[in-house]
Amino acid sequence: MNILVTGGAGFIGSNFLNRFVPRFPEHKFINFDALTYAANLMNLAKVADRPNYAFEKGDIADFDRVKEIFEKYDPELVVHFAAESHVDRSIVGPAAFIRTNITGTFNLLEACRHFWGKKEGRLFHHVSTDEVYGSLGATGFFTEKTAYAPSSPYSASKAASDHLVRAYGRTYDLPVLITNCSNNYGPYQFPEKLIPLMIINALEGKPLPVYGRGENVRDWLYVDDHCDAIWTVINKGRLGETYNIGGNNEWRNIDLVHKICEVLAEETGTEPGEYKRLITFVKDRPGHDLRYAIDSTKLKRELGWQPQETFESGIRKTIRWYLENQSWVESVKSGDYRNWLAKNYDQRMIG
Ligand code: NAD
Ligand code: TYD
Repeated sequence: MNILVTGGAGFIGSNFLNRFVPRFPEHKFINFDALTYAANLMNLAKVADRPNYAFEKGDIADFDRVKEIFEKYDPELVVHFAAESHVDRSIVGPAAFIRTNITGTFNLLEACRHFWGKKEGRLFHHVSTDEVYGSLGATGFFTEKTAYAPSSPYSASKAASDHLVRAYGRTYDLPVLITNCSNNYGPYQFPEKLIPLMIINALEGKPLPVYGRGENVRDWLYVDDHCDAIWTVINKGRLGETYNIGGNNEWRNIDLVHKICEVLAEETGTEPGEYKRLITFVKDRPGHDLRYAIDSTKLKRELGWQPQETFESGIRKTIRWYLENQSWVESVKSGDYRNWLAKNYDQRMIG
């Protein structure tokens, strides 16, 4: 089977390819990625030379390029990871989010509709986020029936893409599946996101910027557990359905930053206080969702998925990965990354 993986050079997509390309030599995996700032081909060093892996540079918002890829490979399965994925960037500059997340998803759906017609055995799997549901208060969980109420340009663009996928399923009988997952962590995550940003800043003795009072809550899932959930849904999910994926692992941001400092101190043989003294409360994110928490009962009951990684082992593995992969860390600290840090944090520190 030819499997088109969009955004396979980003954080989750590259973990997905590293996990499944070696396991399924009978499938060909085509990684279709625009190589934005968030991508890194170093992530794919372990699979790059495998005969069942191919890389194609290209933009999903460019329909002609999407068509070329469908003509060349005739994929039976599309696993759609490609997206602009960072909430703070969507606040600073939403246009790229509309283009990639909405127009890009639309182009892929159009290609599937035209190239697949009524052919059997095809599937479009859309990788989405729990952020489409908006914010929870102190209690409760998101289920698949929770109404969409996105807060940021990022989550609004993902919500729009989810709606398009569902509409193509209903209107054109396109075989589609959607998963909505909570916050991921693990190797290869770009250090604009909370966990790698804190690890890298702490190691450099830089401030650890916690938005507001650090009371916002996120549910964290190890990236391999997310990839296994996607694979389970692709193989066993009921067509047209949505499955929520979560870790049952809620942390207040401030507690999580303390935890990172403690594990980092153990791993580097220093005192946690050396890192904790760097914690700096900064101006909050506009429209900052208070709490995300996922009810994944449907996925567990119907398809038998369970997360394998505990947070204790997952966070330690992740911290070790960043300590042991300094060349990767250096490669992402480009001029572009420094510009982002200045753009996002300079005014927050003053505010
Ligand atoms: P990422 O930002 O690390 O990677 C995104 C990848 O998409 C990059 O390789 C980038 O080059 C590529 N890309 C961006 N625009 C493109 C375009 N126009 N054409 C082709 N490729 C393009 O993102 P991630 O964290 O790996 O997230 C992957 C998917 O999972 C996204 O759809 C995101 O919404 C979803 N998701 C992420 C999380 C999370 O915690 N990171 C949680 C739930 C869902
Ligand atoms: P993030 O990793 O950006 O994921 P998301 O916004 O998609 O949940 O942020 C996770 C939480 O951490 C969120 O509540 C915002 C907060 N945060 C900080 O406090 N400081 C930071 O520098 C960043 C990037 C995030």
